[in-house]
Amino acid sequence: TLVVNAAQPKATIDKTMWGIFFEDINFGADGGIYAEMVKNRSFEFFKPMMGWTVNRKKFVEGELLVINSGEQNTRNPRFLRVTLNHAVKGDLGLTNEGFRGMGIKKGMRYDFSILYRQPEAHTKLHIELTDSTKRVVGDTVLSLTEAGDSWHKAAVSFHASETVAKGRLNIWFEGNGTVDLDMISLFPGDTWKNRPGGLRADMVQLLADMKPGFIRFPGGCIVEGFDLTNRYRWKNTVGPIEERQLMINRWNIEFPYRNAPDYFQTFGLGFFEYFQLAEDIGAEPLPILNCGMACQFNSAELVPMKDLDPFIQDALDLVEFANGDVNSKWGKVRAGMGHPAPFNLKMMGIGNENWGPQYVERLQAFQAAIKAKYPNIKLICSSGTDPNGDRFDYLNGELRKLNADFIDEHYYRKPEWFLQNARRYDNYPRTGSRVFGGEYASHVDKTVGSNRNTWLAALSEAAFMTGLERNADVVGMASYAPLFANVDGWQWAPDLIWVNNLQAYGTPDYQVQKLFSLNKGSQVVPITLNNDAVAGQDSLYASACIDAAAHELIIKVVNASDKAQTNNLQLDGVKKLAAQGKLLTMQSDLTAVNSFDSPTNVAPVESTIAIKNKKITLNTAPYSFSVLRVKLE
Ligand code: AHR
Repeated sequence: TLVVNAAQPKATIDKTMWGIFFEDINFGADGGIYAEMVKNRSFEFFKPMMGWTVNRKKFVEGELLVINSGEQNTRNPRFLRVTLNHAVKGDLGLTNEGFRGMGIKKGMRYDFSILYRQPEAHTKLHIELTDSTKRVVGDTVLSLTEAGDSWHKAAVSFHASETVAKGRLNIWFEGNGTVDLDMISLFPGDTWKNRPGGLRADMVQLLADMKPGFIRFPGGCIVEGFDLTNRYRWKNTVGPIEERQLMINRWNIEFPYRNAPDYFQTFGLGFFEYFQLAEDIGAEPLPILNCGMACQFNSAELVPMKDLDPFIQDALDLVEFANGDVNSKWGKVRAGMGHPAPFNLKMMGIGNENWGPQYVERLQAFQAAIKAKYPNIKLICSSGTDPNGDRFDYLNGELRKLNADFIDEHYYRKPEWFLQNARRYDNYPRTGSRVFGGEYASHVDKTVGSNRNTWLAALSEAAFMTGLERNADVVGMASYAPLFANVDGWQWAPDLIWVNNLQAYGTPDYQVQKLFSLNKGSQVVPITLNNDAVAGQDSLYASACIDAAAHELIIKVVNASDKAQTNNLQLDGVKKLAAQGKLLTMQSDLTAVNSFDSPTNVAPVESTIAIKNKKITLNTAPYSFSVLRVKLE
């Protein structure tokens, strides 16, 4: 018998408890949620024509040169100069390959835009979308009508006649003379909230469906960089997109299966858009900032303490950007981007997976400056990736001495670790610093390419998460990692949501995260087996909570064994209960996965369950996760 006592609230569950962690890894931003379809739109990749090919009819004259304007435009220095000699359509043109192809949808509107300048108004652009056999599946013509020394924007929209998974964009030139081109862009018409230059609606919808409590961004290791020149600098990611300084992505790595020489950050998804996304999906924004240290798995480059001030200033300015009055320097930038109201930032992270006394020293300097100016901003501090190691113990001790608001623990471990650690927080201090499980995922297999989001992985996470929920007084936030992966360009697996150019699906892990988030509750109440927390006895794991707003009791039970089990649930501390409850069950073979063809192969199934005399007979299938909701009358 599992005994629940609804009259004994143990801890308040923070609204932020279950959140998401976004990093531009696995083509998560460019080539992922940022809906731009043109790769290397401003010719700023290391190889300026990466992603582009030149098409030329034999013996046709004409020239294409990449010009670097250097000091005149340090943020976006390169552009393409095209010289035409009485060119007609088909003589000279460009093809862009997209991010591993372009996903084109039948009937969809496509918005093409370009920056240009030309001494005389002579140029016409013939724009085509093609399939992999070069067949045209959508086209239009754009006349560039302005002349002179300054840059102008031209735009045109057109529709596609077919669905193509790996399409291309052609631009054929017509005219005579020179024309300079930059920021060649193509977006689908169905972006999230129909924002021009916005995000992929299907991917955002999957996030919105989770109702996450927070969104941690922009990383991860990209916050730190291979070295400090490669660190994430939020100030380079706001303002007009043509002025956002592109950078190589830290996940531009060489690896079998994972080669990504074309992985850059255009910052079309920058800090303004992250805050906007958080607001759209009702999540608290949680930006992470570089603490003056590069990735310690790479260069371990350090900023000397005497040079740390600009890094700290970035943190102070970020609070002003998010929350400041429209007349403040950074509040004005936010307002200029279309959001005069504050974003109401409440917390930020200093460092990601940084460690050692060097981290503690730097963190202290950040903490002193931020708390002095913004005492209500909560700071998230890193304790690294080795939850059972000395480095972790040292940091935990030091961070607690500093009275850190939150200590960010990361764990990428085997399923067994997650099962064994369901009691991890039972004996943590109940006062002082709280815990943020900022990155975690169950890794079934370490072999690159075979580490998949199986039901085993998700089930073990569900068991572990019951332990997080039982200890909601210690753990205030948790997020799975990484969030997104493009099947044609990933560097890390497993991941919560997989996408291609046309589709996106949530893994079994996604379904588990969603179930916890949608069934969060407000107060933890005890659920016990022989007076002990249910954390592994008979391979059962359980947690219970009250949802005060819905006036419901929520019980989560994982059966991690290969046997069906029957348990009596005794519901104490309640006056009256409805005659039946709602049961959501996930159950499958341990190797089962979701896929583009079968996106909800492993997903919750809803049924009802009878309640009699404050008792429920709960039958749990082998390898199952059940969420039960009971109305308190
Ligand atoms: O989530 C992938 C990476 O794992 C993150 O960038 C980093 O923080 C961790 O090591």
